[in-house]
Amino acid sequence: MSVRDRLAEISAIGRDNVRGGYSRHLLDPAEVALRSWFRSSAEALGLSVELDGNGNLWAWWGESRRGAVATGSHLDSVPGGGAFDGPLGVVSALEAVAILKAEGWRPARPIAVCAFAEEEGSRFGMPCLGSRLMVGEIAPEDALARVDRGGVTLEEAWRQAGLEISAIGPDPDRLAGIDMFLELHVEQGLDLEDRGLPLAVGSAIMSHGRWRLSIVGEGNHAGTTPMHGRRDPVVAVSSAALAVREIALERPAARGTVGRISVTPNGTNVIASRVDAWLDIRAHSDSEVRAQLDATIALIQKRVAAEGCALQVHEESFSPLVLFDEPLTARIAGLLGGVPAIPTGAGHDAGVLSAYVPSAMIFVRNPTGVSHAPEEAAREEDCEAGAQGLAAVLRNLTGEASR
Ligand code: GLV
Ligand code: MN
Ligand code: MN
Repeated sequence: MSVRDRLAEISAIGRDNVRGGYSRHLLDPAEVALRSWFRSSAEALGLSVELDGNGNLWAWWGESRRGAVATGSHLDSVPGGGAFDGPLGVVSALEAVAILKAEGWRPARPIAVCAFAEEEGSRFGMPCLGSRLMVGEIAPEDALARVDRGGVTLEEAWRQAGLEISAIGPDPDRLAGIDMFLELHVEQGLDLEDRGLPLAVGSAIMSHGRWRLSIVGEGNHAGTTPMHGRRDPVVAVSSAALAVREIALERPAARGTVGRISVTPNGTNVIASRVDAWLDIRAHSDSEVRAQLDATIALIQKRVAAEGCALQVHEESFSPLVLFDEPLTARIAGLLGGVPAIPTGAGHDAGVLSAYVPSAMIFVRNPTGVSHAPEEAAREEDCEAGAQGLAAVLRNLTGEASR
């Protein structure tokens, strides 16, 4: 097979007919279909597949569960996301195993291909949910109480999928069995396109976090309520979104986004009573993110108060700055022919794992530079080069077993 063939196998799963691209969210029918595709693809390669207590899938090459080199990514997407963010890393890991098996390679240590649950946090709001649960960064009870857009708790979703509630939580034994983690990922910018190179390694992930802003005003009639004296949370959230941009623009390389808004009750002839908006802030250090957040909230608070509304801020997640393991990253860059190391503004499970095991990333050139949107792209030859590169890295990191 090839990366292209493997991506083709899942190309019809979870298409978003409104936005275009894909909407594949934790334990929805599309994501469940991807899970069974993962299982059969891995089993066809002779790997043994297991589901851990946190919804992450592991496909093992080798009997031992110690000293493993793990590689993979995620199968879920943002709403209306592209074909590559997540699946490319999983597909490339499977293809790299296929390449090594075809040449008769016998790894001296186990290789695990993994697919982490809810990396995007699109259903329950916590990015890298599966890897964070595994390493113990979120308490199981906090995860279980999270609610999706339809009011379904993670606990209910878990039960409906027939998963074991008591199995959720830290998995130190599994973590202790992993010596290194590698995540291949589509690049989410134009750096490689500009450099004319197909591959790079990751050097760092920007610090970032998500906050829910709840703005409460006064619901009333659109026709009978005079314009003066209204307390309209839609007006307040509009000025809040402008504040997010104004503050981010004042700070070098900072990012500030409101990508999701929910209006209650959302009627054309109704002044809304409440708006929830989700704020995403990213910067080059944890303290810069905190300072940007403080400045942003102070300005929003002023504008919300000027509209006569009340503001509540709730932190949904925080992801500290990640600097990938330098020796491992340099070794991989060398194995790929001396490719550059580039930073990214996107979060990844490799970022979570990097605090516990040496972790590294390989980026594959994206000719549009777009991601989290249907226009996300990767050329076929670059994807194949990525899988070949990953195979070469796995060959080197695992070493050949003596015959
Ligand atoms: C995940 O892709 C993120 O960076 O939000
Ligand atoms: Mn993503
Ligand atoms: Mn991703």
